[in-house]
Amino acid sequence: MKEVPFSEAMRRKYPEWVVLITTIDEAGKANVMPAGWAMVASHQPPLFAVSVGHTRYTHQLIRVQREFVIAFPGPGLEEAITYTGSCSGREVDKFKESGLTPVAATKVKPPLLAGCVVNLECTLTGELEAGDHTIFLGRVVAAHVDERVPGRLVNFGGGKFALSVPQE
Ligand SMILES: Cc1cc2nc3c(=O)[nH]c(=O)nc-3n(C[C@H](O)[C@H](O)[C@H](O)COP(=O)(O)O)c2cc1C
Repeated sequence: MKEVPFSEAMRRKYPEWVVLITTIDEAGKANVMPAGWAMVASHQPPLFAVSVGHTRYTHQLIRVQREFVIAFPGPGLEEAITYTGSCSGREVDKFKESGLTPVAATKVKPPLLAGCVVNLECTLTGELEAGDHTIFLGRVVAAHVDERVPGRLVNFGGGKFALSVPQE
């Protein structure tokens, strides 16, 4: 056992799950970014938390619009994850460029994502400042499953993903 900087230890944390967060601006233009720092926070009421860097456009949109969608990406979305995690919705229309397909949500304005095994519609219910990130706590107001999607992607770092499928 040897003591190392936090950043070096974190290079060995993989695999970690990855979610896609969709948001929307005042004019109704949607944005999307991947996040690995995400967790279920409560069953009752249903809460999901995600840690978003202060510099992200997503951070600004969640703060202002107070709604977001958490989607668990299925196979085939590897390139879209890498692309949407490498640029900002401030500069580009990520839906146009990534090939991701938005689907109308039922209770919030940001879209669900096709090709995802789970989509959670969230309204912002709390925030915790966490250094250079903010942990946003979303109240899940609607949950959707697509049974045609066989599983969800897990992230191994360095742009590498694998499909995680439950065993029968
Ligand atoms: C696999 C992956 C996981 C990521 N996880 C997070 C995360 O948990 N929190 C975060 O703030 N940024 C995370 N990022 C970085 C953001 O997705 C990236 O900065 C993105 O370009 C922000 O887009 P936006 O400015 O349109 O919101 C991740 C990127 C990748 C590729």
